Amino acid sequence: MSSTATATPAKYLRFLITGGSRGIGLACAHRFASQGHHIILLARNNAALSTATSELPRTHSEQNHECIIGDVSQQETWEKVKAEHKKLDVLISAAGISQTSLLSRTKPDAINSIISTNLTGTILGSRTVSSLLLHRRSPGVIVNISSVLGLSKCIPGTSVYAASKAGVIGFSRALAVEVGSRGIRVNTVCPGYVKTQMTEDVRIREIGGDGPMGRWAEMDEVVNAVEFVVNNGYVNGAEVVVDGGLRLS
Ligand SMILES: NC(=O)c1ccc[n+]([C@@H]2O[C@H](COP(=O)([O-])OP(=O)(O)OC[C@H]3O[C@@H](n4cnc5c(N)ncnc54)[C@H](OP(=O)(O)O)[C@@H]3O)[C@@H](O)[C@H]2O)c1
Repeated sequence: MSSTATATPAKYLRFLITGGSRGIGLACAHRFASQGHHIILLARNNAALSTATSELPRTHSEQNHECIIGDVSQQETWEKVKAEHKKLDVLISAAGISQTSLLSRTKPDAINSIISTNLTGTILGSRTVSSLLLHRRSPGVIVNISSVLGLSKCIPGTSVYAASKAGVIGFSRALAVEVGSRGIRVNTVCPGYVKTQMTEDVRIREIGGDGPMGRWAEMDEVVNAVEFVVNNGYVNGAEVVVDGGLRLS
């Protein structure tokens, strides 16, 4: 997916997208890059991140996509963001890892890793970006990617993941109330299953996750929900569910 420089849009925003090297994060990056916005991708794997950044669309000559190598669960990653990217407008927190074992077989290290990536990483990201926005007295948007498993859908072998994703929802609601008066909106998008590297796992495939519509989500359907949240200035403290009704089945 490449690019041709044309006219600069009247208004473009600076997006930080964690988990931006593949999957949902990368799909969001392509959508917003194709609208002329600046994208900064964050993930741990240098090679994947560089390739993903270089392949983002560029629609005008001032569009300058960048990347940050880092682990969202580590404060030093967020210190780097704070030092190098003071003028962010939008954070999409899509970095995440899944769980593939029953709790009795899930080692404490794995539990820590899921919680620190999915929940602490999201909290540290929101803390950093909301602080930068407050400091600049600027409005902004934070979209935290939770999951239908953080709502009412329950599947054996996902308890720690579900706890992390329910935590993201509670956290985002409370932060929305804390910073809404300063023009900073905080929301979650809760997808059902969509095909990515995360869901290539055999166990997840066995579980199904088709729901009443008999299929998984298309990636575009998830990205549409993120775009809706970014663009609708009165959506705050909300969970936008894109699950085809899976949570009810
Ligand atoms: N796919 C689904 O069906 C589904 C459904 C509901 C919710 N979600 C959620 O949507 C988000 C994206 O999932 P996905 O399916 O797109 O997963 P994915 O394809 O596995 O991508 C995960 C991304 O997160 C990055 N990442 C993982 N751990 C990280 C860390 N500690 N620090 C920084 N980056 C990290 C990965 O890059 P590196 O490994 O290089 O760091 C990668 O860019 C996740 O939060 C997931 O829980 C997914």
